[in-house]
Amino acid sequence: MRKLGVAVVGTGFWGKNHARVYNELASTELVAICDVNAERAKTIANQFGVKAYTSSARMLKNEEVEAVSVCTWSTMLAKEALKALHAGKHVLVEKPMAAKTKQAEKLLKTAEQNGLHLTVGFLMRFIPGLQHIREAVETKKIGELVCAAAKRVSEWPERIGDVGVVKDMAIHDIDVIRYIALEEPISVYAKAGSMRHGKFEDYAQIMLTFESGKSAFIESNWLTPYKTRMLTVTGSNAIMRFDYISQELWVESKKETVQPRFPFQEPLKLELQHFADCIVEKKKPLVTGEDGVKALRIAEAALRSSAKNRAIRLKPL
Ligand SMILES: NC(=O)c1ccc[n+]([C@@H]2O[C@H](COP(=O)([O-])OP(=O)(O)OC[C@H]3O[C@@H](n4cnc5c(N)ncnc54)[C@H](O)[C@@H]3O)[C@@H](O)[C@H]2O)c1
Repeated sequence: MRKLGVAVVGTGFWGKNHARVYNELASTELVAICDVNAERAKTIANQFGVKAYTSSARMLKNEEVEAVSVCTWSTMLAKEALKALHAGKHVLVEKPMAAKTKQAEKLLKTAEQNGLHLTVGFLMRFIPGLQHIREAVETKKIGELVCAAAKRVSEWPERIGDVGVVKDMAIHDIDVIRYIALEEPISVYAKAGSMRHGKFEDYAQIMLTFESGKSAFIESNWLTPYKTRMLTVTGSNAIMRFDYISQELWVESKKETVQPRFPFQEPLKLELQHFADCIVEKKKPLVTGEDGVKALRIAEAALRSSAKNRAIRLKPL
């Protein structure tokens, strides 16, 4: 089997996991890694026996590299993803895809113009329990979807500092809610602010509403001394509660509570395997560049809503 040649740009906390998984997958071959921190680049490259670069421009000249994961600081994602697309590489860019929607739109356009795959690291979609929820909503196993509530709270991981909690954390839930609601939100109202983080918001409560009458509520912060990542989906006949950390799912109805079980699978492995399969088989990815742009637009509208203290109407893309 021909292996897809891949590289990782940015091998910090998260990028080194991309490198490890590409190294483990049977269908990919980790060819190179790049980090502006020379020592880090060397350490990670040595760990996997691949070439280390500190300049992505030089790395992208390597013809063995067919696809790239971009895992730099959030404010550098768009620049590095654009470089990779211009060099003719397929790209998985980590969330939030870009610091600004305009940059994300440019990525989408460039990928389309060059016939390249562009996907965004919305990892949650790959968790089997979440796939089950989406299917239950689609097939109306829980009746009509009424609302969804997501809670993603923990202490501020000091390494993160170039975007706030909305673009860093709530964006996962914005994407999940778009994915399971099967329609686009039409308006957003949010309250966000900063208690400890000097530059960006470290808490946000976001409400999304839909044309059909359903709604969603997202609570995100870097102020809670313990880590919670939960999703509750209320249907007219049953409620589904999902714990992203343990991957446990509860389905509660008037009659019973059941706990469907799924064998634990590493979401990143599923995500990167899917990325490679889509490139080789020329399939549309589960998460498109357009999904990335849409989630970022909603995140920005949430921040605007909070600043203006009013609901913001979301126009269709
Ligand atoms: N999908 C997920 O669940 C998930 C989880 C964690 C992080 N992330 C995303 O991954 C990205 C990285 O997060 P992190 O926690 O690993 O940050 P980090 O600070 O630990 O690592 C970022 C690395 O990128 C390097 N870097 C920065 N600019 C670069 C450039 N232009 N070229 C090459 N290297 C560069 C830095 O030297 C650093 O080693 C962020 O955008 C974050 O939002 C996603």
